[in-house]
Amino acid sequence: MRVSDALVTDAEFAALRRAVELADRGASTVLPNPVVGCVLLSGSGEVVSEGFHERAGGPHAEVMALAAAGERAQGATAVVTLEPCNHIGRTGPCAKALISAGVRRVVVAVRDPWPAAAGGVDRLRSAGVHVVDLVDTAELGDARAVAAVDAAEDVNRVWLTATLRGRPFVTWKAGMTIDGRVAAPDGTSRWITSQASRADVHLLRARVDTIMVGVGTVIADNPQLAVRDGDGNPTGPQPLRVVIDSHGRTPSSARVLDDAASTWVVSAGDVGAGADGSVDLAAVLHRLYQQGRRHVLLEGGPRLAAAFFDAGLVDEAIVYVAPALLGAGRSALDGGAVPTLAERHRADLRDVRRIGPDVRLRYAVRASVFEQPDPAPEQQPDPAPEQPGPAPEQPGPAPEQPDPEPDPA
Ligand SMILES: NC(=O)c1ccc[n+]([C@@H]2O[C@H](COP(=O)([O-])OP(=O)(O)OC[C@H]3O[C@@H](n4cnc5c(N)ncnc54)[C@H](OP(=O)(O)O)[C@@H]3O)[C@@H](O)[C@H]2O)c1
Repeated sequence: MRVSDALVTDAEFAALRRAVELADRGASTVLPNPVVGCVLLSGSGEVVSEGFHERAGGPHAEVMALAAAGERAQGATAVVTLEPCNHIGRTGPCAKALISAGVRRVVVAVRDPWPAAAGGVDRLRSAGVHVVDLVDTAELGDARAVAAVDAAEDVNRVWLTATLRGRPFVTWKAGMTIDGRVAAPDGTSRWITSQASRADVHLLRARVDTIMVGVGTVIADNPQLAVRDGDGNPTGPQPLRVVIDSHGRTPSSARVLDDAASTWVVSAGDVGAGADGSVDLAAVLHRLYQQGRRHVLLEGGPRLAAAFFDAGLVDEAIVYVAPALLGAGRSALDGGAVPTLAERHRADLRDVRRIGPDVRLRYAVRASVFEQPDPAPEQQPDPAPEQPGPAPEQPGPAPEQPDPEPDPA
């Protein structure tokens, strides 16, 4: 590769920052597909048009941007957060659409790890389109390219992780005091964090397709685990609720069994058990992935969260820290096998926000000593969900079926 082939202009870096913002707009609606943003630039670096992938089965980001540009796409540069697809799903290949529209240059932040859709860059290059793979630019030591690739990977972390690992991305969420307590010694835990933080949790729930708790939380708190609006009414598509309950202790009156959403109460008999007889968590995630589920919000409690960390199955931590201390009570994690500091679970701070009186911290959980290396993508199960998924064991409608064919942009 010649260095000049990897050079990226200021306008293209700015367009990529914008494309990442656009991609994120699809986060609540696009699962099980990736989020993707695209900005078209004229030869002089002016923004011609924008697009993002809004919902599975809908037009891809590149197609949206090309449609908005019309004739002005001729000779343009397309800046995209993810490699344009090269497969015919419910929409045609984006690589072909870019070639047909006369786009001359394409800047790609992240290559598509899904074998069925990859190959867009090669196809574009074969047609004479100049493609800059930003990973190449980053490897040349360009700090802006490193940051741009990182941002594009981060915005698409759910889909990239699920595709590479063959299981849903797992976000652990907890509300705690400054001293890391999630419940007082008498078991009370409502409400450690503020109303504003609890409203933010509903926004988090709206971005996932699965919410999970252990039976301990169901018995202690009796949560409904639905996405609710400001008036407390369930709103929008509801994620599947999953209760990890080895021995069927979920009370039949539990709110999580109401008809606000579907619920799967998983017993050890459903998916298998670990050596201690408790539910095999990796098997649960595998089953959910087969159902087409890509993002689990793990909402507690300390025992289940510790078991997830212990198994290397947590990808992200979102922690709400309230301005309070307890000095005793349940810690955020209860259990796990970290005997010495050198083996601690490590995390990268990605985002800090003040929410009312609380602070919200988002971490990428990395390099856990328990984490297994990723298998090669070609050894991954096909992301197309198998049908049918596990039937819910409890009252409530059948789990909403995933798209018959994930349609990555
Ligand atoms: N502040 C917060 O953010 C927050 C969030 C959630 C909960 N909480 C608090 O946490 C407390 C409940 O804690 P908890 O630890 O009992 O709740 P939990 O972690 O939700 O549930 C633990 C239970 O899950 C079951 N389980 C099944 N398979 C498991 C596995 N592989 N690994 C671990 N557990 C498995 C076990 O019961 P079986 O053996 O019967 O299956 C276990 O006792 C409550 O006081 C609640 O208020 C606080």
